[in-house]
Amino acid sequence: MEQQQQPVPLSASEPGNFVYDTMKDRVPRILTKCIDVCHKKVYILHKDFGEEGRLDCQSVIGQLSQLRTEIMTNKPLTVLDDKLADCYIWNNRFNEYVSIHKSSPSWFDAPWLYAECFCYRKIMSILSKSKYLQNFDVFSDQKKLALTQSLPAVKNLTEFLNEVSHGNLSDSEMLKLRFQDFLHISLWGNKCDLSLSGGEENSQNNKEPHKNLTVLEPFLLHDSTNRIFAHLQENTSKAVVDIILDNSGFELFTDLVFAEFLLAYKLATQVRFHPKTMPWFVSDVTPNDFRETINFLLHDESDILRNLASKWKQRLEDKSFLLFSEESITYFWTLPDPFCFMKTVSPTLHNILENSKLLIFKGDLNYRKLVSDWNWPHDTSFCKALRGFSPAPLCSLRTLKAPLVVGLTDEDVQSAVKKNCDWMVTGKYAVVQSSM
Ligand code: F6P
Ligand code: MG
Repeated sequence: MEQQQQPVPLSASEPGNFVYDTMKDRVPRILTKCIDVCHKKVYILHKDFGEEGRLDCQSVIGQLSQLRTEIMTNKPLTVLDDKLADCYIWNNRFNEYVSIHKSSPSWFDAPWLYAECFCYRKIMSILSKSKYLQNFDVFSDQKKLALTQSLPAVKNLTEFLNEVSHGNLSDSEMLKLRFQDFLHISLWGNKCDLSLSGGEENSQNNKEPHKNLTVLEPFLLHDSTNRIFAHLQENTSKAVVDIILDNSGFELFTDLVFAEFLLAYKLATQVRFHPKTMPWFVSDVTPNDFRETINFLLHDESDILRNLASKWKQRLEDKSFLLFSEESITYFWTLPDPFCFMKTVSPTLHNILENSKLLIFKGDLNYRKLVSDWNWPHDTSFCKALRGFSPAPLCSLRTLKAPLVVGLTDEDVQSAVKKNCDWMVTGKYAVVQSSM
């Protein structure tokens, strides 16, 4: 019998593969964009704060350039020396690595999850030590542009939501079909991230996202939607649903629409949103992005969009929508840790999630953390890959942008490979998987 190897964390140590290319090309390209954005700030800071402002900004640019060079030349990662609350945890991870491996982690040899997350944490560290840029989100303009450019799709989806709400969904089969539509729209919204594209514009340019669902269906490799629906239909009296958010822009809008559908049809009584504490993987939602998105929609010229946004504002007030923005709760999402460590590392967050009826994890990076970023055989069950992480029933809505996936049959894999040898890393294929 063939002996199966123990899965190990992905790393960038093998030249030519996707992970290696990410660290060699994509991450440096993202840093170049950050540097360009800061260059544009030099003039403004000089104008507003004189020479001190200019020098502060130049120092940030210098440190970001050094970071880029260190990544490209596979230098060791370093301990952090900032005053952010999670600094000691990152330094603990560094020391743990050194004590196991007897050498410092380097950009291409450390586990990929650790190295890639460290890059974004290091950007934050550099900015946090600046006088004038400490609250600056270097990715903010890219995120705003992605939302603006998705507006036709956003409006179209709002019309679809209105249409559905004027129809009759008293029949459970009809409700299930619409549930599937909104869940799938939120799933495919995950195509629109700015990390895989290396920071290049990647908005929703299909103007009628719900009409495109049948076209996308063949690319959905595993779909537990019916199971999720059945679970939500059981005992609906008090049903808190949590969405662990991924990207800002069109994806966030699809998540909000999905949440609205859950509340409107009493599949949830409250939806709680989990953003990232800091700018992360270019387009991930911060509390600021969340609030600004609703604010932006509140001022749109279209009535139906403004109405929807004011309903969401009201929901935030009456707490049927709850946004977690306290750092003491959200910090775990921007650590390099797989989720199976949550109970030990962030018991407070784990306790909060235990009260949930369903946890919905959006996107690729959350999936990588759910399955520890290990190179599991594809036919490993999703539950096994969670390695005991189970605060509440959970599911993942993910388009595939990293070379790992579980819960597939050999046939699924063969047919995807036949169609596209890059099937795991382009965001073209997707899975909806659940622990139930
Ligand atoms: O390199 C591609 C990548 O940066 C992955 O590392 C990461 O998992 C993904 O893009 C981000 O995707 P998402 O926004 O879906 O988490
Ligand atoms: Mg993301």
